[in-house]
Amino acid sequence: MSGTRLSGTRLSGTRLLAVSGSLRAASSNSTLLRALLGLVPPGTTTAVYDALAGLPHFNPDMDREGMSSPPPVAELRAAVGSAGAVLIVSPEYAHGVPGSLKNALDWLVSGAEMIDRPFAVVTASPLQVGGPYAHAQLRETLSTMSARVVADACREVAFVGNKVAVLDGVGVITDEAAREDLRNALTALLTSTD
Ligand SMILES: Cc1cc2nc3c(=O)[nH]c(=O)nc-3n(C[C@H](O)[C@H](O)[C@H](O)COP(=O)(O)O)c2cc1C
Repeated sequence: MSGTRLSGTRLSGTRLLAVSGSLRAASSNSTLLRALLGLVPPGTTTAVYDALAGLPHFNPDMDREGMSSPPPVAELRAAVGSAGAVLIVSPEYAHGVPGSLKNALDWLVSGAEMIDRPFAVVTASPLQVGGPYAHAQLRETLSTMSARVVADACREVAFVGNKVAVLDGVGVITDEAAREDLRNALTALLTSTD
């Protein structure tokens, strides 16, 4: 378990659950995620699931019918299952999805938590394209798992290092055009849960 999974609010019944695909302490994706949570309308309950590193490697032998889930897996399933919508913000590694994030999704494959759950995929990169391979793969995987990928809420963010910053310990989107575009993306996700 990699520490807390809370972002100032309880996870159970969270309207918007956010997951970063990067485990890096100074992650630009995690900074972007925190900045995005700062854009949600007042009254929207949010939480960050940040326990990807504490999940066991997915093994179907540990997930047979009648078995109880490992506690970190049960917590992940409860967090997703009680969320009104889920926002994933992730880097791309070697033209793919970071392994720890894919591992979490694998644990969710057989459950009911994903079915028709609204998801947004935001991929971000310091390079000139915003992780298009990981972006497409995540959307394909989520759709295959019967999640509802909200197309209008998905974004590829290029040159992320020029668009986000940590100011006084708080993640902010410093690029105005990016901030407004991402605000629109969030609105599309949250509206889809109404
Ligand atoms: C193992 C590894 C593979 C990477 N592969 C890609 C890639 O395929 N595409 C890309 O845009 N960036 C790639 N990068 C660069 C990441 O986008 C960059 O390190 C980014 O800052 C990681 O996100 P983070 O700041 O949220 O941790 C890679 C980085 C690492 C460490």
